[in-house]
Amino acid sequence: MNLPSHVKVVEVGPRDGLQNEKRAVSLEAKIAFIETLAEAGLPVVEAGAFVSPKWVPQMADSDAVFQRIQRLPNTRYPALVPNLKGLERALAVGVTDIALFTAASETFCQRNMNMTIEESLQGFQSILPTARQAHCWVRVYVSTAFVCPYEGKVSPDAVMRVVSRILEWGVDEISIGDTIGAAVPTDVEPLTLRLLDAMPANQLAYHFHDTRGTALANTLCALQMGVSIFDSSAGGLGGCPFAPGAAGNLATESLLYMLHGMGIETGVDVSKVAEASRQLQSQL
Ligand code: COA
Ligand code: ZN
Repeated sequence: MNLPSHVKVVEVGPRDGLQNEKRAVSLEAKIAFIETLAEAGLPVVEAGAFVSPKWVPQMADSDAVFQRIQRLPNTRYPALVPNLKGLERALAVGVTDIALFTAASETFCQRNMNMTIEESLQGFQSILPTARQAHCWVRVYVSTAFVCPYEGKVSPDAVMRVVSRILEWGVDEISIGDTIGAAVPTDVEPLTLRLLDAMPANQLAYHFHDTRGTALANTLCALQMGVSIFDSSAGGLGGCPFAPGAAGNLATESLLYMLHGMGIETGVDVSKVAEASRQLQSQL
């Protein structure tokens, strides 16, 4: 098997996970969750979203989260930013790493952002100059890259149309999302071939949800093709409030178990991640 020796695991539980919980998690519990995940050695812990609090009330306290978390020097703590207003809120509380988002399917983009794909891309052009001036590290999510909950199958052509636009702006990382966890390895292979033709492997991440138990199989397929950045959430938390049927992300613990068992380094202590999940469990 042709495998990378190191994988970067991007923890998205505190954002993608908690945004979907019906019970509000206290500020203290969120902060403890984020800090324990960083202590576990995760290089990236997505810690909040500066989206509209009317749309996603679970993330309304992201300003307070960023004001209060103790940051480790070598950890990135990205925040989801939908527009210039979100970026301004993020910068005001010391955010240095941002995640922008769009989708490969039109209906999902409109349900999630109240914008067409084109409008979301134009939005990036208004956010990026300010983000660059502030020396932000920029990640972009492309959601519904395989299946849309409203439109069904999404073609690699549709994904590549969006990705090629994003690449023109020279962002740091692009994360390709199987938002409702419907992809199988034979979907991942052709899209990955197209993506790796268009961009370097060290900027490509996959974001698999595990609704039907295919996330690890999809991860293995992408790993063998040279992808070495994967998103996951502690305890498999998550889903998307605008994607009916979306269940949790690939669980960080399962991803680490597989990677470490295959001799791939991550620098993450799986027992510490499990401790973070257990601590949070008592709140949900
Ligand atoms: N932070 C806080 N408030 C915001 C905001 C932001 N980033 N962006 C807009 N708002 C406020 C506006 O000030 C306005 O408030 P008002 O009604 O009190 O005047 C209200 O939200 C509506 O603003 P508008 O620009 O018309 O936005 P919209 O209703 O069309 O929503 C988004 C657009 C992008 C802000 C919204 O769809 C959103 O936040 N989506 C994110 C969804 C998400 O996080 N999904 C999960 C991640 S994949
Ligand atoms: Zn997700």
